[in-house]
Amino acid sequence: MASTSDFDAKSASPKIILVTGANRGLGNAITHALASAYPQHTYILGIRTLSSSTTALTDLRAAFPDTTFSAIELDVSSDASIAAAAAHLTATYPHLDVLVNNAGIATRAQPGQDAWREQCNRVLDVNCTAVGAVTWAFMPLLKAGGEPQVINLSSARASMHLQTTAQLPPTASIPYSVSKTALNVLMLELAKLEPGVLFQAVLTVLWRQSPGHCRTALNGFTGKKEPLDGAEVVVRLVGDEGERWGQGFWEFEDGEVRRVAW
Ligand SMILES: NC(=O)c1ccc[n+]([C@@H]2O[C@H](COP(=O)([O-])OP(=O)(O)OC[C@H]3O[C@@H](n4cnc5c(N)ncnc54)[C@H](OP(=O)(O)O)[C@@H]3O)[C@@H](O)[C@H]2O)c1
Repeated sequence: MASTSDFDAKSASPKIILVTGANRGLGNAITHALASAYPQHTYILGIRTLSSSTTALTDLRAAFPDTTFSAIELDVSSDASIAAAAAHLTATYPHLDVLVNNAGIATRAQPGQDAWREQCNRVLDVNCTAVGAVTWAFMPLLKAGGEPQVINLSSARASMHLQTTAQLPPTASIPYSVSKTALNVLMLELAKLEPGVLFQAVLTVLWRQSPGHCRTALNGFTGKKEPLDGAEVVVRLVGDEGERWGQGFWEFEDGEVRRVAW
């Protein structure tokens, strides 16, 4: 993983950060990578179903004993769960600095199959509709802080430029590609409604150098990349105190943050 030592990460002012879908995969890796780079921040893990068997919180506390972590039940497909989480965080914290919309799903359903409509709608719901609902529910808490930032986990499949110019093989999940493209458009529209909030989409896969995914349950652990490497783009954007990278679609390639064409 690229080093964060080229910028003064640990001196950055303390932030309160919520990561959805933080119990495993990239969400878990993002929280680990952020805590490693910025132990002074406070991290809230949004977890679909909190139970005594959820080890994400205890693992983070053991790895970073000087950092503050908490977990909250947050099923992004449930309006009641979103409202309860927003109410709890509003009662607990003065503001929210960063919302990382990471929770996501995929499906292999294809048009023509019985499951197509239901599965496609489900993927759209979790990967796009829910991001709008979650972001809006936390908007008052985000705006209560100084420089609110919303980071959405997107995909190379969401880039119309890459879809039409790059050598992307057929996707394993058409609903997933559609949902991530819709997510990018959702983000651009939300940014127009809330110009004071920094909205960013990220591409976590270093696909240019060696195409593939991060090794997570989303792709049956067939990915070639380490989730911690995929998390680095989020680490960079959260640490961008100098505001070098504004609203946009970003990746971390060859040791630097680069803009991805929409
Ligand atoms: N892996 C890659 O190469 C790759 C590439 C580009 C983008 N991404 C994006 O990265 C994000 C994380 O993916 P991943 O690869 O880490 O997948 P993953 O290992 O399958 O993790 C997905 C996470 O989302 C959570 N989640 C799913 N539905 C949810 C819901 N309704 N409410 C709350 N949480 C929910 C899961 O919680 P449960 O454990 O409860 O199911 C899990 O924590 C996704 O948005 C994905 O599209 C991944």
